[in-house]
Amino acid sequence: MDIKNVISQMTLEEKAGLCSGLDFWHTKAVERLGVKSVMVSDGPHGLRKQDEKADHLGVNESIKAVCMPAACATAASFDRDLIYKMGQSIGASCQHEKLAVVLGPAVNIKRSPLCGRNFEYMSEDPYLAGEMAASYINGVQSQDVGTSIKHFAANDQEHRRMSSSSNADERTLREIYFPAFETAVKKAQPWTVMCSYNKINGVYASQNHWLLTEVLRDEWGFEGYVMSDWGAVSDRVPGLAAGMDLEMPSSGGVNDKKIVEAVKAGELDEAVLDKAVERILTINEKYFATARPDTPWDMEADHMLSAEIAGQCMVLLKNDGVLPLNKADNVAFIGEFAAKPRFQGGGSSHINSFKTTSALDAAKDLHVTYAQGYSVARDEATEDMIAEAVAAAKAAKVAVVFAGLPDSYESEGYDRPHMAMPACQNKLIEAVAAANPNTVVVLHNGSPVEMPWLSKVKAVLEAYLGGQAVGLATVRVLYGDVNPSGHLAESFPIKLEDNPSYLYYGGEADQADYREGVFVGYRYYDKKRMDVAFPFGHGLSYTTFAYSDLRLSADDITDEDTLTVTVKATNTGKRAGKTVVQLYVGDKESSVFRPVRELKGFEKIELAPGESKDVSFTLDKRAFAYWNEQLHDWHVETGEFTIEVGQSSRAIDVAATVTVTGTVKVKKHYTKDSIFMDILADPDAMQVIKPVLDGMNQMFGGHGGDSDAAQEAITDEMGAAMVRYMPLRSVMSFSGGAVSEEMLNGMLQAMNR
Ligand code: BGC
Repeated sequence: MDIKNVISQMTLEEKAGLCSGLDFWHTKAVERLGVKSVMVSDGPHGLRKQDEKADHLGVNESIKAVCMPAACATAASFDRDLIYKMGQSIGASCQHEKLAVVLGPAVNIKRSPLCGRNFEYMSEDPYLAGEMAASYINGVQSQDVGTSIKHFAANDQEHRRMSSSSNADERTLREIYFPAFETAVKKAQPWTVMCSYNKINGVYASQNHWLLTEVLRDEWGFEGYVMSDWGAVSDRVPGLAAGMDLEMPSSGGVNDKKIVEAVKAGELDEAVLDKAVERILTINEKYFATARPDTPWDMEADHMLSAEIAGQCMVLLKNDGVLPLNKADNVAFIGEFAAKPRFQGGGSSHINSFKTTSALDAAKDLHVTYAQGYSVARDEATEDMIAEAVAAAKAAKVAVVFAGLPDSYESEGYDRPHMAMPACQNKLIEAVAAANPNTVVVLHNGSPVEMPWLSKVKAVLEAYLGGQAVGLATVRVLYGDVNPSGHLAESFPIKLEDNPSYLYYGGEADQADYREGVFVGYRYYDKKRMDVAFPFGHGLSYTTFAYSDLRLSADDITDEDTLTVTVKATNTGKRAGKTVVQLYVGDKESSVFRPVRELKGFEKIELAPGESKDVSFTLDKRAFAYWNEQLHDWHVETGEFTIEVGQSSRAIDVAATVTVTGTVKVKKHYTKDSIFMDILADPDAMQVIKPVLDGMNQMFGGHGGDSDAAQEAITDEMGAAMVRYMPLRSVMSFSGGAVSEEMLNGMLQAMNR
């Protein structure tokens, strides 16, 4: 299709019409010109394709499909190839179902454990979220269907999600809340981006020109179209001008009319409308060009794939030697989740699974007994239930309690009020642990929980919301058929109050201030050297690993060079297993507040017992840079940086130092109130004030007119605290009239040249 030519033949009304949905899930057609409608669908970890009654909240039925592990789990795999494979299978099922775009991945940052949608999001770390999102997108789009990375941007709470303003300084947005989107755009070019419901610093994302045009398109090079989250449009005309192309779902014609009127009134350039239509049609045509509705969909195969993926995501948080279980032993499975696992979250991502495999199903040929333990529906553990569970635990060698969060505790649409598990489940775990010293807890939850019983149980396996085959994956991991290799994509604080956003999360009315700035997750806990229940990046295995022999390609580089970091990883245990080699970078000294360490590389590798492999990472400017608001760009400050490689943010095996020289100078602007400390640090400015310093030195009875000595006099003899903080204007008063205001102004002019 010659899109530009087609657009030139459209009426204004037709063009405006194309910029909003036909209904809940389709774009409009213009039949007379051969423009066909396409269907989009949630997303992200399987298909929620709705046939008839449509909604965006996961209320009404959708087609039978395969529910893969949610993003809380897949991010913990730290495995780019794995999530690519999952994307491929979802992309193929889109082809089968004639879907042009799947609505995902969702990459908002886990600012607080309370966000109701954390289960759908990837990480508290933007680098990890970006890498995983890019692989997912590349996987889906390898099947010639599109993705919609969402929710752009800073949509980190559900509370008042459609009206709240996420207020953060630009550095925080650039370093924490944007990079997952940026990486995905640069590495995977998603066909579409979904803008979020919330405002950013007072402007709705859906009408934020800076966000949707300047940052997303002009800076990052996004080529597709932007669609709104469902119902995220407030003022359509400024939205279109800001770069928000497709309003979803249908506006019932109301906003189409406003667009037409605005063009007619000369308030909206028709070229803006043409561009939006062009972007939408380009993507739609891209789908039609290679649409393959005859693509088969083998759901049974995808079910097994979902089990395989889930097995690679589970995080063994604690293990005092009780796992893996022995298949010959009697084991008690306790807790309703053993029979009916919680494997996905509520809301728009809710999938109508064609089947599920519980842990009890998967363990049917093993020596396993079952006690319900608690009732999810009634949120209770009766005395009888506990007594039955205790008896089962006593009769078994090992008791495995399946616990976590019921559906009602976390969902799209609202946040959790606290971080606790149901009291009935905590009570059950305590009772079982008292009855059997070999108690294991398996958790099904989409976000961290407090674990008051942690010291009383021997092992904890974080299974997250592991998709419809989670039971099979859990049994494989528990019995050692799969060696656990997931690592936390988020910190588990001991208690909610420890979380950096605790004081402000949710905001006051519609103002959610991100006052903790860049100190999100481990960036905060590490800086504060605070105890956490489990740190970011943590995950145990049934074998052990060690990293050694750290090598840097250079000790000294500039920010225009790259640095290659190589480390030797060894399996020091007796089983084959996978390890996640994590690379963190930290600026030893900085003029801005920076985290102690930030993840800048990771690689998941498999090692046989005793085997070693070299793993290499390439670091460029971005790995060392922070966002400089004055330069309005990434900036590296000359100095030493730590390169740490470890198995979590708190388990660093090897470290080295590299000196990086920044090639860009941040030009300072001096005024009469600039203080000596800052001037002394700037050799150019120093040149200018040398004579004055010399003069002052003499005045204070220093060693004569030599400026080096003058500096010495200022720093040593006069006392650092005294002079360092003095403003330049004090030379007038302290020079005894030798420096006039005129001379001072002359100096300032020279310094600012
Ligand atoms: C959600 C999106 C979803 C859309 C369509 C919205 O409520 O925030 O993530 O894709 O509905 O169901």
